[in-house]
Amino acid sequence: MPGLTIGDTIPDLELDTTHGQIRIHDYVGNGYAIVFSHPADFTPVCTTEMAAMASYAGEFEKRGVKLLGISCDDVSSHKEWIKDIEAYKLGSRVTFPIAADPNKEVIKQLNMVDPDEKDKDGQQLPSRTLHLVGPDKKVKLSFLFPASTGRNMDEVLRVVDSIQMAAKHRVATPANWKPGDPVVISPSVSNEEARKLFPQGYEVKDLPSKKEYLRFTKV
Ligand code: BEZ
Repeated sequence: MPGLTIGDTIPDLELDTTHGQIRIHDYVGNGYAIVFSHPADFTPVCTTEMAAMASYAGEFEKRGVKLLGISCDDVSSHKEWIKDIEAYKLGSRVTFPIAADPNKEVIKQLNMVDPDEKDKDGQQLPSRTLHLVGPDKKVKLSFLFPASTGRNMDEVLRVVDSIQMAAKHRVATPANWKPGDPVVISPSVSNEEARKLFPQGYEVKDLPSKKEYLRFTKV
């Protein structure tokens, strides 16, 4: 079983969090949510990642994206850990909930288990998983990073921009795209449709196959 992946509906779990009980689907609501896990509280990379998320929270909010962290320790541990996170990055506030999962049930249901990481009792720990969930409660993107590698929040923001643009305009974003760069017209759009959908015009890259499939435009 591959576990939760792109296109799946995220399970509507009830979570015990630093902001009280939260049901995942209610929390996502009509917007987007990023549900992201950490191996454990009071660990070095996790502390830097949480502080980074806290300082990017305003950017996610502008895009209608809520944040929901998960770490297996309990809520009282999370509340103590937040003091360290905020002290590490002075001025940052952890404004989003962090869910507890002491029985390691949530991480299994959300495909967040790292098979190579165990706690001191030999219990499984989460990887650095991140699911972007859409208004339809389906997973739009997943990252699975090992404990050794902290995530790049600029990249998380970039993929949110890409996915929200693709949801709106029938375009896709090419390699290394950043907001403001040209986008490509989706292969499902015929040239006739493209002329109507993109009156600003588009440029077809001339390639040896002459198949005219690489069409750049600006939106
Ligand atoms: C960390 O956050 O630094 C970490 C957590 C678990 C295993 C390895 C590193």
